[in-house]
Formats: sequence, C-alpha cells, structure tokens
Amino acid sequence: MTDTESFPPDAALAALRSLRQSRRFLPDPIAREDLEQLLEVARWTGSAKNTQPWHLVVVTDRETNSALAGMGAFAGFLAGVAASIVVAVRGDGRSVAYDDGRLQERVMLAASHLGIGSGTAWFSTPENRQQVRDLLGMPAELEPWSAIGLGYTDTSQKQASPQLSGRKPLAEIVSWGRYGAQPSA
Ligand SMILES: Cc1cc2nc3c(=O)[nH]c(=O)nc-3n(C[C@H](O)[C@H](O)[C@H](O)COP(=O)(O)O)c2cc1C
Repeated sequence: MTDTESFPPDAALAALRSLRQSRRFLPDPIAREDLEQLLEVARWTGSAKNTQPWHLVVVTDRETNSALAGMGAFAGFLAGVAASIVVAVRGDGRSVAYDDGRLQERVMLAASHLGIGSGTAWFSTPENRQQVRDLLGMPAELEPWSAIGLGYTDTSQKQASPQLSGRKPLAEIVSWGRYGAQPSA
C-alpha cells in the first residue's frame, strides 16, 4: 500500500486547511498511548543543525494546568485542558524560535490526526516564564515560551472570538514572480 492510498491527498489537504485552535474542551482524559505518540512526533521534528534544543513537560494534573493558566495574558484556557505539553527551549534567536514553532505545529497536526484538539498558550513575559520554571522545577537555561493545550474539543462552544478567526486573502499575502505581482489568468 502506498502512502497516498492510506491517506488520500484530498483528505490530507482538507485536514491541513481546516485545522483551527481549540480552547474549550470536554472533561475526557487523553490516553497515555496517544500522548506518547505525540511525543514521538515531537521527537522526530527537524531542527537547525539537528540541535533539538527543546525539553517537553507533559502536564496531566488539572491543578497544575490551572496554575499554568494564570501565567500568560491569554493562557486562561489551559484551566480546561485534559493535558498540556510545556515546550521549553535552550538558547534564543530566530533559529531556535523557528525550531520551537516547528515542533509545536507538528504536534498539533498529529493531535488532530488522533481526533484531539489543541491550542497554543503563550507565557507572555519573563516573569511568567520564571513562574512556569518555578512551578515545574525547570532549570534556568530553559525558556518555556509556550504550551500546547490538548483535549477533546467541546464543539458545543465557540473556540475563538471573531477577531481571532478568518484569514487575509491570498492576493494580500502572496506575489508571483515579483513583489506585488499577481499571476496572469
Ligand atoms: C506565537 C503564538 C502565540 C499564541 N498565543 C496564544 C495564547 O496565548 N492564547 C490563545 O488562546 N491563543 C494563542 N495563539 C493562537 C492564535 O490566537 C491562533 O493561532 C490564531 O488566532 C488563529 O486561530 P485559528 O487557527 O483557530 O483560526 C498563539 C499562536 C501563536 C502562533
């Protein structure tokens, strides 16, 4: 069986296009095996020079997730997740930030493949990130910029405010051949 037979391209593209951030979750827990599958996906994420500059803390305890929810201006939804994965990175600069985002997006895509909703929660300030380090006993050289909140999406609730939904049209963000040029018909 080829890859395209097991996962038809149309379905794969539709899934990629339609993945949205979840912020409201059902109380159901996530199976340990599913969390482990997500961690394997995370582990195999590529990084600059294969440095793998990350450490992940999996938090399934509701009290700890509720505490994390208070550590970022928009992290409140972590109070209702089944689990979170706090992603901390070593070092700074654009390439580490790129690696961090790359891992997180890959985990979120993998979660959606397992039917699990996910969302980014940002630990906004240096003080917030110190609170996260203190709570989780993390060493000072790790910077916990954000967490991936996970759970089964409560589809009876709105996941985002209107200003956080929708996208710019392609013509506004893409040029063809030369900046500002659109493709000929
Ligand atoms: C760097 C970054 C930080 C984010 N921080 C938060 C956050 O703290 N809280 C939150 O609810 N969403 C956060 N988000 C999610 C964005 O709000 C979301 O990706 C955007 O609104 C598009 O949502 P949609 O894919 O559901 O349409 C963050 C996303 C990124 C890329």
